[in-house]
Amino acid sequence: QTLEEVKTKIQRGMLPQWAFTNHDIYERELEHIYAKTWNFIAHESEIANPGDYVTRWIVNDPILLLRDKDGQMKAYLNSCAHRGMQLCSADFGNKSTFTCPYHGWTFNQKGELIGIVAGNKVYGHEMDKSQWGLRKIPRLESYRGMIFASLNPDAESLEDFLGGMKWYFDIMLGRTTNGMEVRGVPHRWIINTNWKISSDNFGGDPYHTAMTHRSTVELGISPQDPLYASYGHQVVLENGHGINLCTTKDGGTKYPYQGLPKELWGEFEQNLTPEQRAVLYKTVVFVGSCFPNLSFVSPMHGTGGPDEPLTSFVNFRTWRPLAPDKIEVCSWLLVDKDAPESFKEASYKSYIGSFGPAGTLEQDDGEIWTRVVDASKGYMIQHKDVHYDNVLNYIMGLDRVEPDESWPGPGVAYPTCYLDAISRAFYEQWVDMLLASEA
Ligand code: FES
Ligand code: FE
Repeated sequence: QTLEEVKTKIQRGMLPQWAFTNHDIYERELEHIYAKTWNFIAHESEIANPGDYVTRWIVNDPILLLRDKDGQMKAYLNSCAHRGMQLCSADFGNKSTFTCPYHGWTFNQKGELIGIVAGNKVYGHEMDKSQWGLRKIPRLESYRGMIFASLNPDAESLEDFLGGMKWYFDIMLGRTTNGMEVRGVPHRWIINTNWKISSDNFGGDPYHTAMTHRSTVELGISPQDPLYASYGHQVVLENGHGINLCTTKDGGTKYPYQGLPKELWGEFEQNLTPEQRAVLYKTVVFVGSCFPNLSFVSPMHGTGGPDEPLTSFVNFRTWRPLAPDKIEVCSWLLVDKDAPESFKEASYKSYIGSFGPAGTLEQDDGEIWTRVVDASKGYMIQHKDVHYDNVLNYIMGLDRVEPDESWPGPGVAYPTCYLDAISRAFYEQWVDMLLASEA
């Protein structure tokens, strides 16, 4: 089966199941997708002050991201130029220099090698310090406080990469004057699944909610109507990105602007267009993915008692591939800086109970994704000719559901969220990038 054939299948709504578990494909993904594209690594509020740094990973590349004393963001490979030691082992902190734990070489915020233990005694003219600085990450750009890096010097601009997603990021991240901040530190945990399963689930699969998250229905947190997560629009964007904007059945809402504090509503007028405001006014849940592995969910959940009002939150997460069947989730809770402290705390609690590492909905999803991969490793799946085709079903809405031309935002918007249009576009982008590697 050639990738060209796979592409044709994807366009017809069929994905070979071995895509989740094949080791060969996995290695090619790392080289031809992750090393080529933009990767979300941090939010600007995490390195707000000169000297602030965080350490992150782009798959297997360790990243040291910092703000230097002039306020500029810098990103280096977090591996010492001497013998490769991981230079900085802390998750975050504030430093003006970094000293390597192995032999004690010291680097400044510009990545320059400025100190060598016993340098004058053990090195002579063979040592030109200017040659042994930290290796720079080729590209670093941000949009609405979201910092992305790329290992590809020739990557298109971040804004071109995000494309129409910027319009939706503006609604979630740029609606208030001072933008967002990360509350707490990002949570990290491991799930034994494939990165595409989680990314595609957030991007294109509101259909799973009525069953996977059935406990929330039984508890009365989610509506009984099995179509409850279908109302609204699914929007297919360029480059494999997609977003669902879920509303109530009739588009009305008890919680205008997702129940965000009234003190912020005036800021929405200053920062959003009337069309963006109208979308924010009625949307109950924003959920989607930026290809390849940045997903987000901004829903409304309770914070405790049944009588307490629902509180919205904004959660971004990356699915870092560790193996074909293993990812590390890194999950950020973002809140509007200008919101009152009481709302920030309620928003954080709402996240922790639902999509935090031990949140109910998070646990539902992780369990399912693990078992999809467990069921995708065997002989019949991997040996493509044993069972005819071995493809999975992504045909929902294919050639049937027509775009809603009246949708005010960018992208191709369909008038339902129960649709596999984003998933098909996601996997088409995936196969296109693998195919580009063959050309
Ligand atoms: Fe860093 Fe030797 S490996 S100083
Ligand atoms: Fe889910």
